[in-house]
Amino acid sequence: MSKDNAPVIAVDGPGGSGKGTVTQMLAKKLGWHLLDSGALYRLTALAAIRQNVSLDNETELVRVAASLDVAFEPTPEGEPAKVILAGEDVTAEIRTETCGDNASRIAVMQSVRDALLQRQRDFQQEPGLVADGRDMGTVVFPNASVKIFLTASAEERAHRRYSQLKAAGVDVSIDAVLEEIRVRDERDINRSAAPLKPADDAQVIDSTGLSIKEVLSRCLAAVGQA
Ligand code: C5P
Repeated sequence: MSKDNAPVIAVDGPGGSGKGTVTQMLAKKLGWHLLDSGALYRLTALAAIRQNVSLDNETELVRVAASLDVAFEPTPEGEPAKVILAGEDVTAEIRTETCGDNASRIAVMQSVRDALLQRQRDFQQEPGLVADGRDMGTVVFPNASVKIFLTASAEERAHRRYSQLKAAGVDVSIDAVLEEIRVRDERDINRSAAPLKPADDAQVIDSTGLSIKEVLSRCLAAVGQA
């Protein structure tokens, strides 16, 4: 079977909807590959800054995206993969709010998205792929066998993010986190290039008020593995 036939579960949605955790759990449970497409946008933004490339310089950003030297290294049980950029472990650095904001700024550019497209499609390998992003079901894997759009209210997503940041010792206010989420949502939803929206054939799951376990079981039901 060619790799283009390997099944794909596309999970899209805004940040803080539980996508990252749920896609990791799904991939582990199924024994499938995982694509964290947001990491590629974050890495492009980080690599650009490291190379003194302005986040407005589209031509140079395309070059940076196309030449990203990145490796995702699996870690033991349950932990997210280590992310290595040009030989350096940037796992923690790409998770900062600043990096996420920079990623969403460059993600509005169609040419940057095009430069990352094939790299994302290359993750489609046997026995299957769980793909986490904003446009997995709409653009990158339009033929995905299952499409899930995971969402939650902005307030709930802000609370989740706030708890994570507090636990990591970051001093931040809930209002600042909520504002950050609103700005990012607005940019991701209203951009003309691959805006954040459910694919026509996506199953929408609202995770507001649900535990991760409950979200996982709804996703498994959507996948038909419950
Ligand atoms: O999911 P994550 O928060 O890591 O994504 C960071 C940013 O990258 C998003 O806010 C979005 O602007 C962009 N992104 C995207 N398309 C994807 C994944 C992420 O535009 N498939």
